[in-house]
Amino acid sequence: MPVTGKAPFALLASIALLGSTAVIPVTPGFGQDAPASQAQSPARASWEAADPAMEKFLDELIAKMTLEEKVGQLTQLTSDWESTGPTMREGYKNDIRAGRVGSIFNAYTAEYTRELQRIAVEETRLGIPLLFGYDVIHGHRTIFPISLGEAASWDMKAIELAARISAQEASAEGIHWTFAPMVDIARDPRWGRVSEGAGEDTYLGSRIAEANVRGYQGDDLSRPDTILATAKHFAAYGAAEAGRDYNTTDMSMRRLNDVYLPPFKAARDAGVATFMTAFNELNGIPATGSKMLLTDILRDQWGFNGFVVTDYTSINEMIPHGYSVDLAQAAEQAINAGVDMDMQGAAFLDHLKELVESGRVSEETVDTAVRRVLEMKYRLGLFEDPYRYSDEARQKATLYRPDFLEAARDIARRSMVLLKNEGDTLPIAATARSIAVIGPLADSKTDMIGSWSAAGDRQTRPITPLQGIRERAGDGVTVTYAKGASYAFEDGDKTDGFAEALAAARNSDVVVAVMGERWDMTGEAASRTSLDLPGNQQALLEQLVATGKPVILVLMSGRPNTIPWAADHVPAILEAWYPGTQGGYAVADVLFGDYNPSGKLPMTFPRNVGQVPIYYNADNTGRPYTPDVHGQKYRSRYLNTPNEPQWAFGHGLSYTSFAYSPVTLSSDTIRPGQPLTASVTVTNTGARDGEEVVQLYIRDLVGSVVRPVRQLKGFEKIALKAGESRTVSFTLTDADLAFTRADNSFGSEPGAFKLWIGTSSDDNGQEADFTLTQ
Ligand code: NOJ
Repeated sequence: MPVTGKAPFALLASIALLGSTAVIPVTPGFGQDAPASQAQSPARASWEAADPAMEKFLDELIAKMTLEEKVGQLTQLTSDWESTGPTMREGYKNDIRAGRVGSIFNAYTAEYTRELQRIAVEETRLGIPLLFGYDVIHGHRTIFPISLGEAASWDMKAIELAARISAQEASAEGIHWTFAPMVDIARDPRWGRVSEGAGEDTYLGSRIAEANVRGYQGDDLSRPDTILATAKHFAAYGAAEAGRDYNTTDMSMRRLNDVYLPPFKAARDAGVATFMTAFNELNGIPATGSKMLLTDILRDQWGFNGFVVTDYTSINEMIPHGYSVDLAQAAEQAINAGVDMDMQGAAFLDHLKELVESGRVSEETVDTAVRRVLEMKYRLGLFEDPYRYSDEARQKATLYRPDFLEAARDIARRSMVLLKNEGDTLPIAATARSIAVIGPLADSKTDMIGSWSAAGDRQTRPITPLQGIRERAGDGVTVTYAKGASYAFEDGDKTDGFAEALAAARNSDVVVAVMGERWDMTGEAASRTSLDLPGNQQALLEQLVATGKPVILVLMSGRPNTIPWAADHVPAILEAWYPGTQGGYAVADVLFGDYNPSGKLPMTFPRNVGQVPIYYNADNTGRPYTPDVHGQKYRSRYLNTPNEPQWAFGHGLSYTSFAYSPVTLSSDTIRPGQPLTASVTVTNTGARDGEEVVQLYIRDLVGSVVRPVRQLKGFEKIALKAGESRTVSFTLTDADLAFTRADNSFGSEPGAFKLWIGTSSDDNGQEADFTLTQ
C-alpha cells in the first residue's frame, strides 16, 4: 500500500471502519507431514512468474562466469563502522574489485552504496552489481515500536504500513534487502530476542509475517521503493533452551510443524524472497547444515524459489557445535544442505572452489545457488540500472517524511497495552494541575527506539515521554521531572535519587513512573534469568505508591517483565514497549486519553520467572489443577504460585468497555470442506469511542494426539463508537482444525470442539460447541 500525503491515522481508521459486518476467512492450515509429503504452496508472488528473457540472460551470464566469480556471488561481507557511519576496509574493496563478493551488508546512504556499486559495475570483469542488505527491523530512519510492540497492535494494516515506510526509507538509501521479518515463535521471555518477533502465537505470528512481507516487498519487486524481505531464523531459534541466546533447541517434529514452522510457511506463501538460517542446532543438527530444513521442507515441500542466506558466520559455528571438523567441511555441509549465500564467514570464499574441484560439491549445486542470487538482482532491476536505489535526491525527499513520523506516532499508540486501570486512574483527569514524571526511561532518548534500530537516531530525534507529556499538558499544568532511579543492574542498592523523586511526587496531583529495562537488555545476546525491574526501580516504585498519590506505571521493555508487586499495588499500568522515534507523543496521547488504548498482549506476562515457559496454548495434563475443585496436593501446580499468569496472551484494556453477545453458529455440525460461521455482536458499552480486538479460540476436545487447551484461529480489530454495536463473523473449515496427527499426517479429526469468542485468551465468556463429522 503506497503511502500518500494522507494522514496515516485517518487511513488506518478508515480501514477499520469498512462495513459494519465483517466476515473473516480464516487462512487454511497447510499440509505438513513430518517431514514427508507436504502440499506445494499454491501461492506465487509476482516475482515468481516465469520470465523467459530473464532465464536467457541468466543462462548467458552464468556461462561466462569462472568458478571464482560464482563463489563471489555466494559471498556476503559486512562493511565496518566508524563514528561517521559505515566504511569499507581496503581489503574488502579489493574483494569487490576482484569479483569475490556479491553482496554487502551494513552499508547504506545513496552516496556510499553508489561508490561501492561503482567498483562492482565498472571495475570487475563482468560488472555484476552488488546486492546491499541491512537489518531494517522496525523502521530504518523513522523508527516504529519494536516488533513485539507492533505485534501488540494486532493491526495488520498498521504493521504493513510500518514495513512499507521502512522499505521506502531504506531503498532511498541504497538498501535492496532487509533481514526481516523475524518470525520465530518465542515462548520464553528470558530470551532477549523476543523483542524482535511477534510473540508466542503461531496464528498471530503467521498473519504478521504476511503483513511484513507485503509491506517490504509490495506487489512488484522491480519498483525501486520495494526491497527483498527475509524470513528468519530458520528454524526454531526462539526455542533456545533456558532462554539463553544461541542455545540448543530440541523438540518433536509435531511441535516443529504445528508451532514453529507455520509463520515461515506463511512468509513463503506471501512470496518472501529470502530465508535466513538460524544459529541454533535443532535436534542435533545445526540449522545451517540441515538438509531437512533447507531442502526437504523449504524447497521440496514448500516450493520456495528465492535464496537462502546464513546468519552471521553460522557456517563457521558448525565447528564449535562439533558438527564439522574444519571450515572446508562446514562449507560443504552448508551448501549441500541448501545454503546459497554465506554471510560474513568466508567459508565459501575460502573453500568452495577446492570443494568443487575435489568433487565434494558439484558445480551444478553452485550454479543453482548462483542463479537464485542473480535472479534476485535481476528482479530488482539492478542489471538494468545498478544505481536505481542510490539516488541522493530521493533520499533527501524521503527520510523522516512528516507523514512517516505521523504514522510512527499512530502505530506506537496502537501498540501500547493497558494492563491495569483501577478506579479509572487513566486517562489523566483534566483537573490534574501537576504531574510528576519519574524514572530512568522518562527522558532517555537513547532508550526510546529499542534494539535493532541500527540506522535510527538515538541522540536527537526521539521524543521522550517527558517531552510528550510536557507538550500535551500545556502551560496550565506543572510537570516536574526527576530521574529518581536507575535501571543499571549494579545500582540495585542505591537510593541517591529517591528524595528528589519523592518530593516531586508529594507536590503533584499525579505520578507517572516510566520504568523498565535499558534498550539493550533485550535483543540479540541479551538473555536474563530475572524478569524483574532491574536496578533500584522497584524500591522507588514502592515508595512512590506509599506517598498516597495516584501512580501510573509506564513500562518500557522489550519482553514480558515480572511485576507482581506493581500488579497488586499500582493502580494503572501501561506497557509501552520501546515505542520509537515518536514514542513520547504516543505515550502522551494514551495517558491523556487522546487515543483510547487498543493493544493486546502478544506474549503471556508471567508472575515470576519460575513459571517460564508459560504460554496460553499449552497441552492439558492428566492432572489439571482447578483451584475451586481440586484442593488436593497431587495436581499439576506450584506450591508457591498460581498456575495462571499475571496477564494472559490477548489481554489488554480500554478506556471504554465492550460487551459480547452469545456466540451464534451457522450450524453445530460441519463436514470436511464445509464452512462454519461463528458470530458475535460486540457493543461499546462505555462512554468513549474505542477499538477492540475480537479473538476466536478453539479447542479440539479429543485427538489422536493431545490437543492444546485453546488455540487462536481468528481475530479482528474493530472500531466502535460509544454505544455502537457490530456483528463480527469468522468462518472456519476443517482445514483450520488441522494438526500433525498421531501417524504424522497433517489434517483434522472428526469429533467435538469448543469455540470461544472474546476479549482475551482467558476470557471464558462466550462459548459454543460444534462437531466435525466425517
Ligand atoms: C545476526 C542476527 O542473528 C541476524 O538476525 C541479523 O540479521 C544478522 N546478524 C545480520 O546483522
